[in-house]
Amino acid sequence: MTAVEAFFIDEVSGAAEMEAALAIRHAVFCIEQGVAKQEEFDGRDGDCRHYLARLDGRPVGVARTRPLGAAEAKIERVAVLRDLRGRGIGRALMERTIDDLARSGTARILVHAQCHAESFYASLGFAADGDAFEEAGIPHVRMVRGARV
Ligand code: COA
Repeated sequence: MTAVEAFFIDEVSGAAEMEAALAIRHAVFCIEQGVAKQEEFDGRDGDCRHYLARLDGRPVGVARTRPLGAAEAKIERVAVLRDLRGRGIGRALMERTIDDLARSGTARILVHAQCHAESFYASLGFAADGDAFEEAGIPHVRMVRGARV
């Protein structure tokens, strides 16, 4: 028999799931990428919807969506644990957040993409908008999906 890995994306509900999501962000952004804790944990989590990916039950990836206006939102803090990348988990997280935003009437989605991940977001329908800039010490590019509102 072949073992099949199964991953699932759920919206975070409850303190234990939120703690797991924050731990992944800390591991990826603060430890791996060197982002300062006060920049990563920016005080905006309470304004956001949070998503957690689990692989065989284990929390392995995160994303959050932050409303910017009635029909506009930003997807932020997209991260998958390093040793589990390249299996479609990041794409599945993005597809789920995009679907939920569309369902709640969001017409336009922004991301500040780390430049290394520009092709990842481009494959999900985002287009670069402007020049690269630095955020949290990392080169980024603003990318947009959907009509201007
Ligand atoms: N650069 C270029 N392409 C990338 C990429 C990267 N950093 N990461 C993934 N891709 C491509 C994959 O090759 C794949 O292409 P395919 O569908 O044609 O095979 C596609 O994007 C989806 O890959 P997937 O396996 O779903 O992505 P992942 O689970 O590895 O997650 C990230 C992608 C970016 C979330 C992950 O690399 C990560 O956590 N990086 C560190 C944190 C980070 O930089 N987050 C982005 C903040 S803006």
